[in-house]
Amino acid sequence: MNRRRDALAIFPGSFDPITNGHLDIVTRGLSVFREVLIAILVNPEKKPLFTVEERLETIRQVFRGSRRVRVDTFSGLLVDYAEEVGASVIIRGIRAISDFEFEFQMALMNRRLDPRIETVFMMPAESYSYLSSRLVKEVFQLGGRVSDLVPPVVERRMRDKYGPRRGRPAGEAV
Ligand code: PNS
Repeated sequence: MNRRRDALAIFPGSFDPITNGHLDIVTRGLSVFREVLIAILVNPEKKPLFTVEERLETIRQVFRGSRRVRVDTFSGLLVDYAEEVGASVIIRGIRAISDFEFEFQMALMNRRLDPRIETVFMMPAESYSYLSSRLVKEVFQLGGRVSDLVPPVVERRMRDKYGPRRGRPAGEAV
């Protein structure tokens, strides 16, 4: 078995937008691996809130100064991208059992495609176990507060997208 602690680990996803749950997984990844590469999937079939360029820029801003975190985009098969960048580990976050089935299928499919790449599942802090990009967008859009759930730069950008009246607790002045 190869030693993987020196590995470059890819943390792939849509990150539309990146949440504090994702940040938690990156931090955990850094405690195990040499470097974490956040890889944003370019998926023309999805209609995201943020363009790939916006997500790239935002995530770079969040991790500015973190020398062991890189941010990039990819399209096509994840294992091909992993090979291209020299990564031997894929990190995925598992929040609950409901995540597991799909993640398990993806991990085994990726292993079939390239057995040299190992998928590692990490659990975020319990306080993030209910957190998802989809819910953050919904709550924000309906006027709920998300400041504990996403980095400040993401909240600012969501306000730019949805308008200043969103994402504030009821009764707070705009
Ligand atoms: O944040 P998401 O949307 O759950 O991330 C899903 C992602 C990007 C990890 C997955 O869709 C992916 O790896 N897509 C790339 C295409 C690919 O390799 N498909 C086969 C994997 S089984």
